[in-house]
Amino acid sequence: MSLIIDQSLERATQQSLLMAESLKDQPDKLPQTIDKEGRLVTCNSDWWVSGFFPGVLWYLYENSPSDSLKQWAENFTLRVEDQQYTTDNHDVGFMIFCSFGNGYRITGNPAYKDVIHNASKSLITRFNPTIGCIRSWDYASWSAQWQYPVIIDNMMNLELLEWSARAFNDTTFSHVARTHANTTMKNHFRDDYSSYHVISYDTITGAVEKKNTSQGYSDNSAWARGQAWGLYGYTMMYRETGNRPYLEQAKNIADYIINHPNLPEDKIPYWDFNAPDIPNALRDASAGAIMCSALIELSGYCSAEKGEEYLDVAEKQLRTLSSDEYLAVPGTNGNFILKHSVGHMPNRSEVDVPLSYADYYYIEALMRMKKVIARE
Ligand code: GLY
Repeated sequence: MSLIIDQSLERATQQSLLMAESLKDQPDKLPQTIDKEGRLVTCNSDWWVSGFFPGVLWYLYENSPSDSLKQWAENFTLRVEDQQYTTDNHDVGFMIFCSFGNGYRITGNPAYKDVIHNASKSLITRFNPTIGCIRSWDYASWSAQWQYPVIIDNMMNLELLEWSARAFNDTTFSHVARTHANTTMKNHFRDDYSSYHVISYDTITGAVEKKNTSQGYSDNSAWARGQAWGLYGYTMMYRETGNRPYLEQAKNIADYIINHPNLPEDKIPYWDFNAPDIPNALRDASAGAIMCSALIELSGYCSAEKGEEYLDVAEKQLRTLSSDEYLAVPGTNGNFILKHSVGHMPNRSEVDVPLSYADYYYIEALMRMKKVIARE
């Protein structure tokens, strides 16, 4: 496994340096995906994925420090700086913590800490105490069906708040994060620990108004990336709080995923566990990478036997993602690291393409597994 990890990180470094170079004359742009002709599609800082490529560069720099990786990591991190003041969506956690959060963890640059603080203040403006959640999406024509939509993905933004609660000695942030996690645990999950994608709340009573999906196959299906966000979110919340119900939730979600009859042998999920065309449905490498990173962390919080079970699945996922089927040859795949993710199947957008968040969580998983092996 060690050799696979080192070779994959080396390949990822080559790809990411090529990606950074390709955007040197477009200083406001960040990598998003590729189009049907295989050309790079970029986004501005305000799209939810903007922080992932800077985060990839920081992880790769941490793995193998070089001046070029550091310069590019700093350069791409600064491209998302304006998002610290974003209050019109919940994605500020993804955008700022993957970029500035990793940058601060690795360099200790005090300017980055201020950005993280501002981002946390921005995010908590979206918390409604009657409901007990941070609102995910604002009103728009496509979201008009929901009074107060909260998506399972939102669990990921809580890491920013837990970090800030500690760093700035301010329990307002952790209060919001924990209340959101508790409300989500109560309302987002079915009896089998699969989760709905969107729960909407009544803004007056705070009661659940609707249980729907946006990116999954159907309201009652288990959208693969949603299951991954939930698994990662509760694992992270247990690390941050030591609160046992979060650990139990993470283990229950993990067991749902790894014991699911529709999880393929190579452990990379179909884009939805209930996709009607399984076994011919498309896989989602992004969901596989997020699950893999979360399972590696969760394995460290369980009994030896359970930990082994989770690590075993994570190792299979890493081996699959590091195979030629998923790992791109440098210079191909628009300079993204992984192939074969699914962004939004119901909209037929970003289907079977590279995505910057698949790359981010894959690199994180490689780094986490490397640490686990070094400890053994
Ligand atoms: N947070 C949006 C997604 O997972 O596609």
